[in-house]
Amino acid sequence: MKVMVTGGAGFIGSHFAKRLATAGDSVVVLDKLTYAGNPRNLEGYDIPLVVGDIADPEAVAQAAAGCDAIVNFAAESHVDRSILAAGDFITTDVYGTHVLLEHARAHGQRYVQVSTDEVYGDLPPGESAVEGDPLMPSSPYSASKAGGDLQVLAYVRTHGVNASISRGANTYGPFQYPEKLISLFTTNALDGQPLPVYGDGRQRREWIHAEDHCAGIELVLRQGEPGGIYNVGGEERENLDVIEQILALTGASRDLLKHVADRAGHDRRYSIDSTRLRGLGWAPKWKFADGIAQTVAWYAERRDWWEPIKSGEYLAYYREQYAHRLEP
Ligand code: NAD
Ligand code: TYD
Repeated sequence: MKVMVTGGAGFIGSHFAKRLATAGDSVVVLDKLTYAGNPRNLEGYDIPLVVGDIADPEAVAQAAAGCDAIVNFAAESHVDRSILAAGDFITTDVYGTHVLLEHARAHGQRYVQVSTDEVYGDLPPGESAVEGDPLMPSSPYSASKAGGDLQVLAYVRTHGVNASISRGANTYGPFQYPEKLISLFTTNALDGQPLPVYGDGRQRREWIHAEDHCAGIELVLRQGEPGGIYNVGGEERENLDVIEQILALTGASRDLLKHVADRAGHDRRYSIDSTRLRGLGWAPKWKFADGIAQTVAWYAERRDWWEPIKSGEYLAYYREQYAHRLEP
């Protein structure tokens, strides 16, 4: 199968592009190379990279020519950035999805939308979202992802596009841009920098290793039903538990931990039921304790990967996001 992987120079998309290439599929990556895109994530693999925007029909036509399928990872993906400015989230996550769907429709291509458990919104203790649940997004990020999902379902119903949706949990692993909880706190801990815990740190997320997330998306690509939605869940942990593990694995001092002003609209808990995907034969291979140890070890070894990132635009973002929280 020939597959266009959009956002394939980002964190999860690069794991997926490399996975398919290893499986013998022909892969082309379309990626705009925003701050989060990094061609080095594809190093060692012979995967063509078309630099372009999913919201640009010409770039999409160029990269998708001859492809049997499109798997859309391209997105603005960070909640905190969507709180600072949401425009790019609408352009990419909503309008970009529309452009890709138009292409899939015109060329009869299979389509997979890589979505997130955040579209279900905040889940009360003891409840897990199933695929038919209503969408209750809290952040501009999750609202834009929900907008993408709804378009996909409309294109299945109205235009008969052969599309499915995966909704993955919080993902961790090597090659994650150092702005999300595990990648940021690990690199900060390795550098002896503060770990800014939002609010009480008792929020809960499900954590899945990127390889397990990609295994789920691959199954959805190959076996998912048109209009089918598939949750890809992980192991539930309180943020403070995750942070404890990062401290233990890096040997960093507990003094680095700083409780800071909470994120606006912060969801307390995500939880999803993955029974449907398990029914296709999916099961995660990584236990969280092993996966986080592997990930922290990777960041400890690969300063050559993340140190250059933590400069320039990154520092400007970091100041805007954290300076007022961390400085007295
Ligand atoms: P990421 O931010 O690491 O990478 C996103 C990639 O998309 C980058 O390479 C970027 O350059 C590219 N991109 C952004 N805008 C683009 C555009 N307009 N045209 C083409 N390329 C563009 O993101 P990630 O963490 O790898 O997430 C990938 C997908 O998985 C996203 O759709 C996200 O919503 C979803 N997801 C992520 C998580 C998570 O925990 N990271 C969990 C569930 C779902
Ligand atoms: P994040 O990795 O941004 O993923 P999401 O918000 O999409 O779930 O955040 C995971 C959790 O960690 C979330 O509850 C917010 C919290 N968090 C902090 O406490 N401090 C931080 O600096 C960041 C980035 C996240």
